[in-house]
Amino acid sequence: MQLRADLMLLALLTVTAEAGDTVCQAYGTKELPQFSKGGDINIGGIFSFHQNPVAVNPTLQVNPGALQCEWLDPGELQYAQTMIFAIEEINNSSYLLPNLSLGYRIYDSCPSIPVSVRASLALINEYEERPQSCTKIAAVIGDTTSTSTIGIARTMGPFHIPVISHYSTCACLGNRREYPSFFRTVPSDLYQNRALAKLVKHFGWTWVGAIRSNSDYGNNGMATFLEAAASEGVCVEYSVAIYRTDPRQWFLQVVDIVKRSTSKVIVAFADGSDLEILIKELYRQNVTGLQWVGSEGWVTYRYLASHINSPLSRGGGF
Ligand SMILES: *[C@@H]1O[C@H](CO)[C@@H](O)[C@H](O)[C@H]1NC(C)=O
Ligand SMILES: *[C@@H]1O[C@H](CO)[C@@H](O)[C@H](O)[C@H]1NC(C)=O
Ligand SMILES: *[C@@H]1O[C@H](CO)[C@@H](O)[C@H](O)[C@H]1NC(C)=O
Ligand SMILES: *[C@@H]1O[C@H](CO)[C@@H](O)[C@H](O)[C@H]1NC(C)=O
Repeated sequence: MQLRADLMLLALLTVTAEAGDTVCQAYGTKELPQFSKGGDINIGGIFSFHQNPVAVNPTLQVNPGALQCEWLDPGELQYAQTMIFAIEEINNSSYLLPNLSLGYRIYDSCPSIPVSVRASLALINEYEERPQSCTKIAAVIGDTTSTSTIGIARTMGPFHIPVISHYSTCACLGNRREYPSFFRTVPSDLYQNRALAKLVKHFGWTWVGAIRSNSDYGNNGMATFLEAAASEGVCVEYSVAIYRTDPRQWFLQVVDIVKRSTSKVIVAFADGSDLEILIKELYRQNVTGLQWVGSEGWVTYRYLASHINSPLSRGGGF
């Protein structure tokens, strides 16, 4: 024990001695934005340009490097272009913010919490590199996915930097104590769930199956739906979670659950990327005659209806 304590002390001393000799610098590699342009006032943007982080099995012997992302989503590039367009409009206008130029720095979130937190820190830290130009970001627009917005809002909250999301509907983000600087331009899932429960009740579907994305969006959304449904007298036969990186075996198991169940109405609180995989498996096994009730995460998902047999395509909001 004593030896270990001594070794620990030695290690700490070495670390502090080294830290004392060198100039303070950022840890790891510098994170560069996907799109950027400087201005007097800068606005950060974080979007899910990719739909999934590449899973790595760390050996703990070499530096795993920056997280890689896969499944590019063109729809998210559109969101970024929309933000850039709006900023240019304000910048070009002589009556909106006269004599001030607006800038932006836009990052990818993957979407995953580590990547979105990393992007958030990169946005905050830019200020420290060039404090003389006062490039501190005024606000952050993003993200599409509730899960990664949670990472961003938690990072920005202590600095009182506003985070405004164009698509994150998770009711959880409405907690003012945990996310003091979070705002959104779309309604919270709280209202959507009450409406979904009333809709299901209205059509007399009191015996339903429930499928959700295994994410903050799906888990929180389904929890509030089940609560609302219970108070409307709707009973749930099964409730399962799916996620795009789950093994195919699990999707086949879910297909089995759907096939064996007696309820013919499925309430799916999921996003398109997850549900698409399940729908394809159901289609392959000729499972028909189901009534789907969807959350906003996939009802407008463009690939679901038209590309059943095409190679997997990704996209959609949450
Ligand atoms: C904003 O306007 C200034 C001055 O006209 C220009 O230099 C700058 O490039 C513009 N920025 C953007 C993001 O369009
Ligand atoms: C803003 O002005 C620049 C330079 O005149 C132009 O290229 C750009 O298209 C304008 N952007 C918008 C959104 O009007
Ligand atoms: C913007 O700059 C112009 C030229 O320097 C000046 O005439 C005008 O008063 C300024 N407007 C504001 C609102 O400061
Ligand atoms: C689905 O239907 C097609 C055409 O009717 C048939 O060829 C195929 O074997 C069926 N697949 C399953 C898994 O039942």
